Amino acid sequence: RVARAGEAVRRLTRWHDDFPTPGVRFADLTPVFADAEGFHAVIDCLGACAPDADLVAGVDARGFLLGAGVAASLGTGVVAVRKAGKLPPPVLSREYTLEYGSAALEIPADGIDLKGRRVLLLDDVLATGGTLAAAAGLFAAAGAEVVAAAVVLELSALGGRAHQGDYSLTSIVQL
Ligand code: PRP
Ligand code: MG
Repeated sequence: RVARAGEAVRRLTRWHDDFPTPGVRFADLTPVFADAEGFHAVIDCLGACAPDADLVAGVDARGFLLGAGVAASLGTGVVAVRKAGKLPPPVLSREYTLEYGSAALEIPADGIDLKGRRVLLLDDVLATGGTLAAAAGLFAAAGAEVVAAAVVLELSALGGRAHQGDYSLTSIVQL
């Protein structure tokens, strides 16, 4: 399944230069997720990174699709890690620097018992690593343990892996 997922990612990803800002080469995984075999292979691979997770988290926005798919396949719940301003207070918030610009991620500060939970954290792409590190920091601040993080596509040249914490980080395809 790793081979099949990787093949679909390599074949179907849409690349776009200078989007959303000049100098950035944007990887759009929409056609990978729209492909039945590609999507299912991706979901299987990501879930295999932490079969013992008891909660899956997906990062705004395409991480939501992955998070929901993997949570359904592992039989866990799912948390959407939102961009700033989308959730009512109280929230936990972490700022981060993006490949382009800066932003903040948030999760609810109440209503979910996160203490001691074993979280599998998912996103579509790892670039500079700021997004994933900020998301992981939110769960750590809430007393949860990020047992693994996984992405579909890792842009290795941007060095995002160096910013990650004490959890395994898996990518299906490295470019
Ligand atoms: C993209 C991508 C990752 C992030 C990776 O999201 O989906 O979440 O950038 O970049 P980093 O490793 O340098 O932090 P983006 O912020 O563009 O927002 P979107 O997912 O809502 O499109
Ligand atoms: Mg994103």
